[in-house]
Amino acid sequence: MRIPPFALERFQSIHEHQVEINLTESGVEPLDVGELLGAEGTDLLLDQPLAYTQSNGTPELRAAIAATLPGVTDAEVLVANGGAEANFVTCWRLIEPGDEVVVMQPNYGQAHGLAEGFGAIVRPWPLREERSGPAPRWAPDLDELRALVTDRTKLIAVCNPNNPTGTRLTEAEVAGVCEIADRHGVWVLSDEIYRGSERDGVETPSAWRRTERVVVTGGLSKAYGLPGLRIGWAIAARDVAADLWCRRDYTTIAPSALSDRLARHALAPPRRTALLERTRRMIAANFPIVGAWLGAHAGKLAWVPPEAGAIGFVRYAHDIGSTALADRLRQTEGVLVVPGDHFSLDGWLRIGYGGRAASLREGLARLDRVLAELPLAAAPSPAGS
Ligand SMILES: Cc1ncc(COP(=O)(O)O)c(C=O)c1O
Repeated sequence: MRIPPFALERFQSIHEHQVEINLTESGVEPLDVGELLGAEGTDLLLDQPLAYTQSNGTPELRAAIAATLPGVTDAEVLVANGGAEANFVTCWRLIEPGDEVVVMQPNYGQAHGLAEGFGAIVRPWPLREERSGPAPRWAPDLDELRALVTDRTKLIAVCNPNNPTGTRLTEAEVAGVCEIADRHGVWVLSDEIYRGSERDGVETPSAWRRTERVVVTGGLSKAYGLPGLRIGWAIAARDVAADLWCRRDYTTIAPSALSDRLARHALAPPRRTALLERTRRMIAANFPIVGAWLGAHAGKLAWVPPEAGAIGFVRYAHDIGSTALADRLRQTEGVLVVPGDHFSLDGWLRIGYGGRAASLREGLARLDRVLAELPLAAAPSPAGS
């Protein structure tokens, strides 16, 4: 099996700890252990045996994860090492050579790369920048999805809220995706790792239980600000969750005992609410910084204001490819952003704005310096057109 390189992840891991200002993070500034433990302090950790834990996650942690969606039982939850492992075992379980896999586009590249690696044919389902409605958004086209799904389709992979655009599907759109899948006996993988980080506080509608064949993945890395815990999950019907667990015995066996313990602490109800509020507060505080910066460059830079997550997908009108622009910014100014090329959309940059305000301001000012040296190619034009 040949697997395509995961360009986004590799680019970040090579450069993010080398640059002065990292604007590639898609989550907010992470908590440290002391901040997460709060008044209870480190005592909570001292008697935690550094043993193997139950390999699909402790019953307490699975119950806490189950409580994040209505009607989930803990037997339907598999704890994984990050959302990444949850997505991996799901794709491994569902995708076989020759299958067709419909993948929302743009998207975090994992499902796309794995589908290719497992020998499937990928059919991109594009979101398009739409400016005609009351508020601009990255809109899906369900008719287009209907046309893409055939009897050869095995899986539809969506990311909701979406990375990199921060767009959120509506209730009707989520229902529509699941109805189309159901009609063809197709699986839905709904990566909902950004759910809970909505700017307006209205939680993204989940795909959970809208069809029998659905796996919802999530984790603590984005909406909860705890990526270093490496705790993610897959939620699926009991027999499927059992299959995923079986696969996981071959990958990493169990989550780290310390992480399982800290994750239980994070998801205890009042703390869970407080963590999500912290994330939304940080996003709300920094959003106007990017908004004002874009306002000062009208006609040259534009975005569809993201609804969730700490990421903005910014279109530029300058005459340079996105990888070359990101490289130049990194080499000359020590600032890291993700090139749109990593989402198969050149002419765009993904800017993470969930970090410290001062770094964000400085990073954008340095990006200004680089852009000022570049000629304009054209006025920014809508994506997907
Ligand atoms: C949509 C999406 N899913 C999964 C992941 C991986 O999450 P984790 O760090 O929990 O493995 C990411 C990370 O950026 C992501 O954007």
